[in-house]
Amino acid sequence: MQVKTIMIVGAGQMGSGIAQVAAQADFKVILADINEQYLSRALEGLKRQLERNVERGRLSAEAKERILANITPTIDLDVAATADFIIEAATENLEVKKGIFIELDQVAPTHAILASNTSSISITKLASYTKRPASVIGMHFFNPVPLMQLVEVVKGLATSNEVVKHTKQLAEILGKTPVEINDAPGFAVNRMLIPMINEAVFCLMEGVATAEAIDTTMRLGANHPMGPLALADLVGLDVCLSIMEVLHRDLGDDKYRPCPLLRQMVAAGYLGRKVGRGFYTYDR
Ligand SMILES: NC(=O)c1ccc[n+]([C@@H]2O[C@H](COP(=O)([O-])OP(=O)(O)OC[C@H]3O[C@@H](n4cnc5c(N)ncnc54)[C@H](O)[C@@H]3O)[C@@H](O)[C@H]2O)c1
Repeated sequence: MQVKTIMIVGAGQMGSGIAQVAAQADFKVILADINEQYLSRALEGLKRQLERNVERGRLSAEAKERILANITPTIDLDVAATADFIIEAATENLEVKKGIFIELDQVAPTHAILASNTSSISITKLASYTKRPASVIGMHFFNPVPLMQLVEVVKGLATSNEVVKHTKQLAEILGKTPVEINDAPGFAVNRMLIPMINEAVFCLMEGVATAEAIDTTMRLGANHPMGPLALADLVGLDVCLSIMEVLHRDLGDDKYRPCPLLRQMVAAGYLGRKVGRGFYTYDR
C-alpha cells in the first residue's frame, strides 16, 4: 500500500507532533480538530518550534516552509475520504474516540488504515466500533513526538498482519523504531513505567526516603536519566493516576492499586509541571 496522505485527528500536544514528523517526511498531512481556534493554536505552536530550529541551524528556512505547506488544517472529518492512513490522537476518552472511529469508518476509503495513538484504551474495543476491525491498529507515539524514538505498534485481536506490516513501515519512514505489541492494558511501556512511578510514590508516602533521595537512587543506582517522581511531574500526576486505574481495573490485580498519596495529590490539583506544582515546584 502506498501512503500519500496522512490524516491526524486531534491537534493537541501529540497530534501536532505527529503532524510535524509526517510533514517533515514529505507526506501530505490533514490535521483535524473540533474548532478553528485549536487548529490555529496548534499551527502557531508548530511554526514557532520550527522557527527555533531554523535559528539554531537545525533546519533550513526552505524546509520549514515545506513542512508547513504540507499541513492542511480542517474541522471536517469527511476529508478522511482523501486519506490513506489516519491516526487518531484526540482526547483520551472512550466516548470521544468511539464517535471518531464510527465516523471515520463511514468516510475513509476502504484501503485506509485507522490507527489510534491512545495510551490506555483497548485497540480491540476501538476496532469493534467499525466494520473493518482488521484495519484498526494502535500507533502509540511518545512525547515529545519529534524527539522520542519509539512507536508501540499495537495489534488488536482482529488486526491483520498486513496492517501491522504497513504500520511498522510507516513508523520507520517517519524515522521511528516500531515495536510490535499485542493489545493489553497499558501496552508495554506504561505497564512497566507507571507501576514503577506508583511504587516510588508509595516509598515517599511510607517515609522510605525524601522525594529528592528517591529520585537520586534511581538516577544513580539504576542509571535512569530522570527520577520517577520528577518523571511523574513531567507526565502529569492525573495521567499517571488514570493509567494506574486502567491497569487496576482491567488486569484485576491489587498489585496495580494506585497509591493513596497519588490520589491525594491529584485531588489537591498538584498535577506536576503543567500547573507548577507536583512532587516538586516549578517556575511557570
Ligand atoms: N500527552 C502524552 O504524553 C501522550 C503520550 C502518548 C499518547 N498520548 C495519547 O494521545 C492522545 C492525545 O493526547 P494529547 O496529550 O495530545 O491531548 P490534548 O488534550 O493535548 O489534545 C487532544 C486534542 O483532541 C481534540 N479533540 C477532542 N475531540 C475531538 C474530536 N471529536 N475530533 C477531533 N479532535 C478532537 C481536542 O480539541 C484537542 O485539541 C490521547 O489518546 C493520549 O492518551 C498522549
